[in-house]
Amino acid sequence: MTPTRPRVIVTRRLPDAVEAALRQQFDVEVSATDAPTTAEDLQRFLGQCDGLLATVTDRLTAEVLAAYPIRTKIIANFGVGVDHIDLAAARAHDIIVTNTPDVLTDCTADIAMMLILMCMRRAGEGERIVRGSRWIGWRPTEMMGRRVSGKTLGIVGMGRIGRALARRAHHGFGMRVLSVTRTPLSPAELAEFGGEPRATLEGLLADSDVVSLHCPSTPETRGMINAQRLARMPRGAFLVNTARGDIVVDADVIAALKSGQLGGAGLDVFRGEPKVDPRYLDLENVVVLPHLGSATLETREAMGFRALENLTAFFDGRGVRDRVG
Ligand code: 8YV
Repeated sequence: MTPTRPRVIVTRRLPDAVEAALRQQFDVEVSATDAPTTAEDLQRFLGQCDGLLATVTDRLTAEVLAAYPIRTKIIANFGVGVDHIDLAAARAHDIIVTNTPDVLTDCTADIAMMLILMCMRRAGEGERIVRGSRWIGWRPTEMMGRRVSGKTLGIVGMGRIGRALARRAHHGFGMRVLSVTRTPLSPAELAEFGGEPRATLEGLLADSDVVSLHCPSTPETRGMINAQRLARMPRGAFLVNTARGDIVVDADVIAALKSGQLGGAGLDVFRGEPKVDPRYLDLENVVVLPHLGSATLETREAMGFRALENLTAFFDGRGVRDRVG
């Protein structure tokens, strides 16, 4: 008799190669609709599967995890951020949680660099002019943005993605890199991108031409970029967020964009995605992207294989590499 294979529910469609590899190892059910899950869907899945392969769109709150009975032993998150999962509640129900670090570092840092370039060089606005047949022809004073090369970039959060952005900005664009981070970097790490640590967020904001957020969403960082902090930035500086939407206070960012305190913003993430505060959409100096950070075929495949590796290690009884809870 063949042993029963662990049952794994996959909440969203994944790249074909990943789904095929999952099916070779497990008894797999993949969402047929590819729609975001509801609390009821998630509670049903928790009662039906041994492993849940979840994404950022699955709100695994304490209430959802209070479902009974729970069969699930591992939530393998497809993605590095796990703020949509209540880790304490998962632990209380003996569910381990894993994520997929490393494999999305480069693509997310690329999107952050792209947003810095797009908002400082007014790329979104320019594209809308051309597409709207409103381009009246080249002139010396047309669409003057701000130079990126050589400017000062403040990076909030120097984990893998923050450091990957620092390398791009410093070596590719000759930028001066300031940073604030929970875990201080060693002199050797800082030397890699000529990094200058700042003791406080306020100190970093005051000296940066553009600030890019790379910290996780936690009770400490939620709402961290507010009116008071935005006022510390030099007038006309830029803000980029590829981390999580709730790190910024939208109303304050919008007010700063309108008053000119912020010269522009590049946003890949939003509080309450996929809803976007409509006031952003009326502003020409904002670039908005639909959470594209890790959205390349190469990275999405690598994320899927990393989640598969975590599931396999867990069900084989081996050490799980990416355990976060
Ligand atoms: C992922 C992300 O695509 O990994 C993260 O934290 O924000 C994204 O790049 C998303 O989390 C998928 O679940």
